[in-house]
Amino acid sequence: MARLIRSIIAAMVLAGFALYWLSDFDAYSVFRSDQRLKSSRAPDPVNGKILFAAGGCVSCHASPGSTDRRHIGGGQPLKTPFGIFYPPNISPDPIDGIGQWTSVQFVRALREGTAPDRHSYYPAFPYPSYRHLSPEDAADIFAYIQTLPAIRGKVQDHALDFPYSIRRGLGLWKLAFLNGGVIEPDPTRSEGWNRGRYLVEGIGHCAECHSPRTIAGVILAEKRFSGGPAIDGKGFVPNLTPDPTGLADWSEGDIASLLKDGLTPDADSVGGAMAEVVRNTAELSEADRRAMAIYLKSLPPIEGHSRTK
Ligand code: HEC
Ligand code: HEC
Repeated sequence: MARLIRSIIAAMVLAGFALYWLSDFDAYSVFRSDQRLKSSRAPDPVNGKILFAAGGCVSCHASPGSTDRRHIGGGQPLKTPFGIFYPPNISPDPIDGIGQWTSVQFVRALREGTAPDRHSYYPAFPYPSYRHLSPEDAADIFAYIQTLPAIRGKVQDHALDFPYSIRRGLGLWKLAFLNGGVIEPDPTRSEGWNRGRYLVEGIGHCAECHSPRTIAGVILAEKRFSGGPAIDGKGFVPNLTPDPTGLADWSEGDIASLLKDGLTPDADSVGGAMAEVVRNTAELSEADRRAMAIYLKSLPPIEGHSRTK
């Protein structure tokens, strides 16, 4: 009997260890990785600059207090329902930033949420959207970041509430919820629509703010783009689908122009998080802003939240 109890306890301890290990095991990047970066290809920092702007990297990684938008030393608090994140220094500084990273490590971080030391990132870093970017485009962003000034200083640790403060488990979260791959063009649609989809669904990560989420922090697929509560808990993010509660009355031109100057058709200026997004989309070409508008107008209309004035 004593032997049986001892074996049961031993089995339970073993199972506990196995679970503990599994919860941090990055099965995602081991089994589902789709890195197929061609090492022979020369990266293009000019394309990287465009995607860096479309991705709004500065919105989260800017050095606090710096007016130079090329300073990405991190450290600005990002308030979420899970606690406060301090986005890290992603400048090319070799000690405090990502100056010693390889292109492959960077592409894996951006597209799979995996750090060079194999730990998983919190999806507050919007890699669930960035994973729709091609590995080549991600490598171009890395090449552009190398041209930015190196900034000294590490940022403070995230101040997250329990149990979110435990990084373990993110490996399992990814396995359960991270899906989809590179967005490939749909030959039945126009070039503008395809470019728009690539920007909006991928690097532009528009759905990350403009959708409601489940308790697990995952975007509710059937309500995607229909608006949702703001991440910092203040107010609602409006519906972007062509529903009467959304952008039904907006023309493609209205949307493209908002992405340039932040003005709605009623000449009201967007505020908060969207004002910051517009600082980035204003750096894109007219054709890219128009492409995003074409794609948004093609979405299925879903009832949601309109903009609160
Ligand atoms: C909504 C805010 C947000 C945006 C936008 C964002 N990031 Fe981040 N990023 C974060 C947070 C938060 C972390 C830390 C995640 C963690 O600790 O698990 C992070 C981590 C990173 C890391 C890992 C750095 C390290 O030292 O391990 C890299 C690289 C990175 N981001 C690059 C980018 C790039 C490039 C872009 C634009 C394409 C971008 N981020 C856009 C919030 C953001
Ligand atoms: C960081 C969160 C965030 C991201 C990312 C974001 N938005 Fe927004 N967006 C908002 C908020 C908040 C508002 C409401 C602003 C206001 O009411 O002043 C808004 C408003 C808008 C509006 C005006 C809608 C209306 O009814 O007035 C449009 C159009 C829009 N966003 C498009 C986009 C597109 C396209 C993207 C992707 C490139 C995007 N947004 C990414 C937060 C975000």
